[in-house]
Amino acid sequence: MSTTKKYNPYDNVQAVVKNAASILGYSHDDYEAVLFPERELKVSIPIRMDDGSVHVFEGYRVQHSTSRGPAKGGIRYHQNVNIDEVKALAAWMTFKCAVVNIPYGGGKGGIVCDPSKLSDSELRRLTRRFTAMIAPIIGPDQDIPAPDVGTNANVMGWIMDTYSMLKGHCVPGVVTGKPLELGGALGRHEATGRGVMLTTLNILKALDIPVKGSTAVIQGMGNVGSISAKLIHKAGLKVIAVSDVSCGIYNPEGLNIPEIIEYLSAKKGNLLKDYKGDGVSYISNEELLELKTTVLVPAALENQINEKNAKKIQAKVIVEGANGPTTVEADEILKKRGIILVPDILANAGGVVVSYFEWVQNIQSVSWSEEYVNERLKTIMDQAFQAVWDIAREKDTSLRTGAYLIAVKRVVDAKNLRGIWP
Ligand SMILES: NC(=O)c1ccc[n+]([C@@H]2O[C@H](COP(=O)([O-])OP(=O)(O)OC[C@H]3O[C@@H](n4cnc5c(N)ncnc54)[C@H](O)[C@@H]3O)[C@@H](O)[C@H]2O)c1
Repeated sequence: MSTTKKYNPYDNVQAVVKNAASILGYSHDDYEAVLFPERELKVSIPIRMDDGSVHVFEGYRVQHSTSRGPAKGGIRYHQNVNIDEVKALAAWMTFKCAVVNIPYGGGKGGIVCDPSKLSDSELRRLTRRFTAMIAPIIGPDQDIPAPDVGTNANVMGWIMDTYSMLKGHCVPGVVTGKPLELGGALGRHEATGRGVMLTTLNILKALDIPVKGSTAVIQGMGNVGSISAKLIHKAGLKVIAVSDVSCGIYNPEGLNIPEIIEYLSAKKGNLLKDYKGDGVSYISNEELLELKTTVLVPAALENQINEKNAKKIQAKVIVEGANGPTTVEADEILKKRGIILVPDILANAGGVVVSYFEWVQNIQSVSWSEEYVNERLKTIMDQAFQAVWDIAREKDTSLRTGAYLIAVKRVVDAKNLRGIWP
């Protein structure tokens, strides 16, 4: 394998889907359509900046599949957003919704921007204009956005308001991950990290590794990373290292996770490089990924574990909090080295499961308690884990292939049952 091959996450998606489809015995005609996104929209978003100048941002919304229900997936604000990344993220949503068996297809969107360099009012104008430009293809029955890297509940609130203004009535079900006051679901903010924690406990149990004495290393301290760290710490694992974009912090005796989370959320822009804690040393993100640990949770971005560092990973188990953190090449290396990996489409599905609960509540105008949400989430995550574990044992495959065997079958069968129109 050439080391100079340019990383394209959509190639990863296609390779994994083709592999699952061939194990399932599908002909190329059966799954050909699933290899391509149904719809890709690119928009140029002009914004009046605070200094009076005009800047045009590039944005995307991709709908990979609507075979099993409306497209569903987050909106990312990041300087590296590009069409191949958005296509891959949209496809991963299709298979994620299928593996946990919720009635959605997959979509994703993004704007090429660095949100940390925009004021709140610039972000609001950018979000509103973007929403207006993708409004023709989104809606509670068509495509339902949610938060992703660089976006949060406030951004979702602006999307909901803009869409509602365009329609002339309140449409809370157009977007999930909203503030509670606007129809957000109790438990949604923590849902992805809760799912990562539940998956971590499930894989440890399946491998007969006791929680007591196990350690965890977490890359990324945003929504997914910080909640995963909080709940994994609470579950009894010793979290020995965490990182954000600025650096990693490490203490082999265990980090004070509640204090670190409090520090990071105390002020916008607080970074780990400025955190001071007893016994803490500062390491790079590369070093963090290679630490000796029971569990490694990459919860930042794609392409973090690749053919360059896969040989050096010392974790026993990897639980993918981020989407696409491991490349196809790295997957092979890890498998040969006996490192067990729980794939993104299963491990981080908690967010979309509770987004589904939010949408169900919105369209029925009802509200569920946090206990009920967490209980239903646990049931779905546990069942999905067991199904993936069982099929991977039965077919002697990795857990990623096992997850795709379930997901690809559900998507391809739905597509073929509907048939090709006209
Ligand atoms: N938010 C969700 O509900 C959700 C659901 C499923 C999957 N995901 C995925 O989880 C990942 C993280 O999403 P999030 O919502 O937590 O984003 P976020 O913006 O809240 O946090 C991202 C974190 O990653 C860090 N980071 C950024 N660049 C980095 C780099 N180069 N090296 C190390 N750390 C870096 C940031 O400092 C931050 O701590 C993404 O892959 C996203 O697609 C998110």
